[in-house]
Amino acid sequence: MQRIPVRAPSGNYLVCCGRGICARVGPLVEGLGDADRIFLLSSPRVWARWGQTVAKSFRGAAPEILFDDRESSKNLGTVERICRALAKAGADRRTLLVAIGGGVVGDVAGFVAASYQRGVGLVHVPTTLLAQIDSAIGGKTGVNLPEGKNLVGAFYQPQLVVSDPETLRTLSARQYRAGLYEAIKYGVLGDAGLFRFVEHRMPELLRRDSTAVGRVVARCVRIKAEIVRRDERERGLRESLNLGHTIGHALEAATNYRRFLHGEAVGWGMLGATLISVGLGRLDEREAGRIARLIARVGPLPPLRGISPGRLLRIMRRDKKSRASRIGWVMPRGIGRVELQVAVPEALVAKALRELPRLYEQARERP
Ligand code: GLY
Repeated sequence: MQRIPVRAPSGNYLVCCGRGICARVGPLVEGLGDADRIFLLSSPRVWARWGQTVAKSFRGAAPEILFDDRESSKNLGTVERICRALAKAGADRRTLLVAIGGGVVGDVAGFVAASYQRGVGLVHVPTTLLAQIDSAIGGKTGVNLPEGKNLVGAFYQPQLVVSDPETLRTLSARQYRAGLYEAIKYGVLGDAGLFRFVEHRMPELLRRDSTAVGRVVARCVRIKAEIVRRDERERGLRESLNLGHTIGHALEAATNYRRFLHGEAVGWGMLGATLISVGLGRLDEREAGRIARLIARVGPLPPLRGISPGRLLRIMRRDKKSRASRIGWVMPRGIGRVELQVAVPEALVAKALRELPRLYEQARERP
């Protein structure tokens, strides 16, 4: 088992990674020592595959509360239903919630943990690639509003993250690929070696070769842990993790969170940021080509059909990453280097949005 420490200003915890560790969640959680009641929060589909493995590992009772894990269900209605289920079951301040699932389960359960009785214990058991490398680490929790993505939430660190690579084997191809876009993101924003590794090992990664995937997961967790240590509250450095998210979040909101998985929207968003950066003269065309080709090699992205640049621009202006309606873009400056809070003329953004499908098709044709 690998233990990767996260030293966030509001709390230290471990990310424990290991094959088969799902069957040891109980002892690891009980070892934290301070909870009277434990509830397992998950979705019906994750529970069907992993619920019993996790539940049986607890010595005492750990009842489950299940909720839908589609992005379109990541809302305040779901939070209310879970809080009411906790209240009816008599959950008090010494309760601990174990979130078992992907990014939606973790974000919703994390927000419930931050809010129920002003805060109860939280452990993440991420079961998707995206959650293992990104969303389960660093304490961002929250839900969407029709007006935008993650507009209601809290920073709330877990006490432990338990990450089992075996859970990635049962993911759909689409869910798995969505996580690979986020892995590419880490390479672009700060680790040229990771980017090269993903370039060279894409066939193994697409076959979910456990050694290659394990290296990517551990590398991404370490990068994220370091960023969160230095900037838990996203005052600067952590903004780099938003590479591809300005366009990505707008795509998700414009399609009512139904067309794109989050990672897929980030894939499109990184392509957009790459085009814009070239347009600003901040990114070399050759490096841009490598980024676009690597994204294209992951697999098909859902089409942008019917989403107008004007609508995306309107959504981006009210994104919470905007300050006083000015969008602070994360721009790739090269592979392994980004610049934060870049101002981009709207005309250039609109042009990039129009050109995106063509850039993507070209990149798909020249792997
Ligand atoms: N997923 C971006 C962050 O945690 O900051």
